[in-house]
Amino acid sequence: MSCQTLPTEQTAETSSANVTPGPLRIVAFLCNWCSYAGADKAGSNQLPVPSELSVIRVMCSGRIEPPLILEAFQKGADGVMVLACHPGDCHYKEGNIRAFCRAELLQNLVPQLGIDPKRFRFDYVSAAEAEKFSRITNEFVDKMRSIRL
Ligand code: FES
Repeated sequence: MSCQTLPTEQTAETSSANVTPGPLRIVAFLCNWCSYAGADKAGSNQLPVPSELSVIRVMCSGRIEPPLILEAFQKGADGVMVLACHPGDCHYKEGNIRAFCRAELLQNLVPQLGIDPKRFRFDYVSAAEAEKFSRITNEFVDKMRSIRL
């Protein structure tokens, strides 16, 4: 599996200092069983969900390995989120724990690659947490907007 293709090359026009940046690009990997259902519920409840979110639905957050996240950054994502089932709720037993450990690793690795660690967020969102999904995605997008200014 790979991330959706995002433009990687800057043209002469977009590299000019006078050009305003394009829209934010936030990649959100959502576990099918919890976070994706929470996102769906947020939509059903007409809660605000940022339009900048590019959702990638996966069967388990444990499927998201660090190279996928780094690929998203390499291809131009302003921020990357991984949202998982709460501890004890993973349908594949320990995928979310693996994802959490990888997230800890990434938080330490990305600064070495020149990436602000605030541009990556791991969190837990259950199928019942539509409000949390709405809140944390909006907070993350706002933070990415302020980082880019
Ligand atoms: S099934 Fe949701 S994180 Fe594993």
